[in-house]
Amino acid sequence: MITRPRRTEAAAKPSGRVPVDLVATGLRVAYERDVEILRGVEITAAARRISLVIGPNGAGKSTFLKAVAGLAPVTGGLVTLGGVDITRWRPRDLLAHGVALVPQNGTLFPAMTVRENLQMGGWLRRREKAWLGESIEAVVNRFNLPRHLVDRRAGDLSGGQQKLVEIMRSMIMTPTTLLLDEPTAGLSPKMASQVYEQIAALPGDLGVTVLLVDQNVRSSLAISDDVYVLAMGLNNDRGTARDITERLGEITAGWLRQGVSGAVKS
Ligand SMILES: Nc1ncnc2c1ncn2[C@@H]1O[C@H](COP(=O)(O)OP(=O)(O)OP(=O)(O)O)[C@@H](O)[C@H]1O
Ligand SMILES: [Mg+2]
Repeated sequence: MITRPRRTEAAAKPSGRVPVDLVATGLRVAYERDVEILRGVEITAAARRISLVIGPNGAGKSTFLKAVAGLAPVTGGLVTLGGVDITRWRPRDLLAHGVALVPQNGTLFPAMTVRENLQMGGWLRRREKAWLGESIEAVVNRFNLPRHLVDRRAGDLSGGQQKLVEIMRSMIMTPTTLLLDEPTAGLSPKMASQVYEQIAALPGDLGVTVLLVDQNVRSSLAISDDVYVLAMGLNNDRGTARDITERLGEITAGWLRQGVSGAVKS
C-alpha cells in the first residue's frame, strides 16, 4: 500500500536508512506540452541490488533518472520508495529521505578543494561541523582517496578521480538509494574499472541500492543484477544481467535498426 506523508514531515524524518525498493510505475514525463519523452516506464530498483538501465541515445534514460530525482516534469505515474510516494518531491527532500543523484555531466566546483566539494554534499547538515568532518573522513577512507588529494583543487584531479569524488560527495548524506548517470563516460578503461569497482561494492559494503544508467554496456552489465532496456520512452526488454548479456547482440542490433529514438508526439 502506498502512503502519502506530507513532504516536510517525510523530509524531516529520514527513512532510518533501511534499504528499500524504489519503484517507478507508469512514469510519464513531458518537457514540453504534448511531447512525451517517457510514456509509462516501469522500473524497480530492488533494495541492495544494482539495477541497470540501458538503451539507445535519446531513449529517455537520463530523463528517467531526472524524473526520479525531482528534476524533470512528471506528468503521470508514480515513484515510490519503500511504499512511500516520492513522486515530484524536491531534490533536497529526496536527499534528506536517502535518494541521491550523480548526474552525467561533471558537477564538481573545479576551483574548490576536494574537501570543500565534499562539504557541499553535506549542505543540508552544514551546521553540524563534527558530523560533517567525520562523514568526510569516512568517505575518504571508504573510497581509498589518497590523503594528499583532499586539499587539492578538484579541477586538478584526473577524470576518474573527479568522478569518484562526485560519488563520494553523494555519499556524505549516507543515501540508501544512489542514482548514477553514465559514471564512466569519457574515462579511460583503467579509470572506468576503478569507478565500477567502487560502485560494485556499494550494495554489499554500505547497503546502498544502485540505479545505474550506462552506455558502457558490457562493463556495466558485469557489475549489475537486474537490467531494463528502454527505447523511445518505453520499456523494451528486461532481465537479469546474465540473461541480457546472453542476448546483448540481438538487443543492440535492434537499437541500430531503430536509429536514435526521440520524443513522440501524442
Ligand atoms: N530539458 C529538455 N527539454 C526538452 N527535451 C529534452 C530535455 N532533456 C531531454 N530532452 C529530450 O528527451 C529525449 C530523451 O533524452 P534523454 O537525455 O533522456 O535520453 P538518453 O536515453 O539519456 O540519451 P543518451 O544515451 O544520449 O544520454 C531526447 O529526445 C531529448 O532531446
Ligand atoms: Mg543520457
